[in-house]
Amino acid sequence: MNIQDLTGNKNEQALIAELLDAGQEHLFANWDAPGTNDEPKTAFLKSLTRINESYPGGLTGYISNARKLLADAKEDRNPFEGFIPHQPDKVDLTQFNDVYDHYEALGRNHFDKTAIVLVAGGLGERLGYNGIKLDIPVEVTESTSYLAHYAACLKAMEARMKKPKPVPFIIMTSEDTNAKTLAALKNNNRFGLKEEQIHILKQELVPAIADNDGRLALEEKYKLILKPHGHGDIHMLLYSSGLAEKLEKQGIEHLFVIQDTNGQVFNALPAAIGVSVEKGFDFNSLAVNRIPGEAVGGLAKLVNGKTELTLNIEYNQLDPLLRATVSPEGDVPDAQGFSMFPGNINVLIIRLNSYVKILKRTRGIIAEFVNPKYSDKTKTAFKSPTRLETMMQDLPKLFEPGEKAGVTIFNRRWCFSANKNNIKDAAAKHAAGGPPESGATAESDFYLAGRMKLAAAGVKVEAAKEELIRAIPFTRGPRVLLRPAFAMTLDEVRSKISGGSIADEATLVLDGRDIRLENVELSGRSALVIKACDGAKVTVKNLKIENGGFELVKLTDEEQNSSATPEYLRLRGYRIENCGAQIAVFNKPGEYRL
Ligand code: UTP
Repeated sequence: MNIQDLTGNKNEQALIAELLDAGQEHLFANWDAPGTNDEPKTAFLKSLTRINESYPGGLTGYISNARKLLADAKEDRNPFEGFIPHQPDKVDLTQFNDVYDHYEALGRNHFDKTAIVLVAGGLGERLGYNGIKLDIPVEVTESTSYLAHYAACLKAMEARMKKPKPVPFIIMTSEDTNAKTLAALKNNNRFGLKEEQIHILKQELVPAIADNDGRLALEEKYKLILKPHGHGDIHMLLYSSGLAEKLEKQGIEHLFVIQDTNGQVFNALPAAIGVSVEKGFDFNSLAVNRIPGEAVGGLAKLVNGKTELTLNIEYNQLDPLLRATVSPEGDVPDAQGFSMFPGNINVLIIRLNSYVKILKRTRGIIAEFVNPKYSDKTKTAFKSPTRLETMMQDLPKLFEPGEKAGVTIFNRRWCFSANKNNIKDAAAKHAAGGPPESGATAESDFYLAGRMKLAAAGVKVEAAKEELIRAIPFTRGPRVLLRPAFAMTLDEVRSKISGGSIADEATLVLDGRDIRLENVELSGRSALVIKACDGAKVTVKNLKIENGGFELVKLTDEEQNSSATPEYLRLRGYRIENCGAQIAVFNKPGEYRL
């Protein structure tokens, strides 16, 4: 084969030569003569060049990594060989008490040294929403999107700094989500965030692999099969963009890594950051208590001689590992009924100083793995092309002695409630005894967190009974939205609200820094919404609120199936209507009383 006949471009020629050396002759075999199919050939070479540039080590690096991992997979090497599982180093913050307050106060003073990393490149196939997940409202009382909510949290963090400065916001997108994420930011004036605080990192797809020799798979003659590489790409991108290092130079000490649809996550942020700071964790996984056998990855400290690794172990690997090592009965419950190995919710806090060093060592390629489905026992052929993948939680696999990983356990619904399943699958999951993780449960939990904050401030909260809406559990109320501008910590809620009560279908929305509530009673389905701009001081004292409030209306079958009903309502099965809520908006600084 004469490379010059394939392209006149010197860089492309060099890449082809490298690929031929790496056993990829099939990519260039039987090419049509120049003049025939030139367009697809050019596109093919462009796609090879793009992937070559985006993957550290280039395409040949990818191929050689694939060969190594495929050889290990063929031999069925046990990744945990020689390791003994122990409980991870953990801090239990499942209760609101002095310890919780201590860590919240520490974390709150660290907002100016924290950056938020949002991984939002996922396809969201299980949800099947015709748009990006970040655009979906987390609640439909006021219909705040996930992205708007996250942005409000960043602004609230900034407002609480001694010397306010914008919190860096790193968003990882992909080909599937990039344009819509940029549009959401642009169309909403970046939700009040500054342009320079937002960093978009777009992940690329990786080529699929056809066989154990790492031959890249072709969809057609001049087209590779490309597949997602997983959320672990965030590490590679923070390395290759130079952003991790830049943030460190700007004085950022921790990255708080969140997912696209977890409206609860900022509830736990201050205390979790406090734990990272005090314990000196290089890597802190937020976790929840997990029942043995539950389909959630367990966090364990694996020890082999002097090597200690605190890792997420998939639940189906954890039990056999325990049986083969420390516990013949497998994963057994403790006195409270929980596993010794807490459940991973994949919210991570990474200490930037250590991270930058790890990225330099690894070029950000974090513990890739391969999961080929073989045609038969000989493991010589695959049923369909496979690819290398990477998961962000695997970072500690690259830790060196002295780098510390730990776990912080929170009340589950306080820190985690995702919206990942469509309404039918969510109902089926509930019927099977699993978490539905749907639009309705995410919204129900969003209000629940608000109720937990009110209860922590001593308000009498009368929660409604859980009911089923389209076979998915939902708690009607009270629907409490204490916006980030109002409070970012429990301490702040307690300092602004005292006494009072709220009935099971009532709604309370507080948005603004200087709102105070004392002995406010919301009865029945009443609603009080207060929005106060900076400098507007609003006091509500000894007041009984009675009005038509907001009504939760279940969608009829016709509405549920009609494309005229907004998709974000159809994915939850209800809407919320204003039937006379008291809405007080204060747009000018000053002192006000209700
Ligand atoms: P999920 O496990 O929810 O996967 O991702 P998904 O791809 O979004 O949804 P399904 O599986 O197709 O239904 C967890 C988080 O990781 C991000 C997602 O956007 C989500 O925030 N993610 C996932 C990426 O950023 N990139 C990926 O390649 C995969």
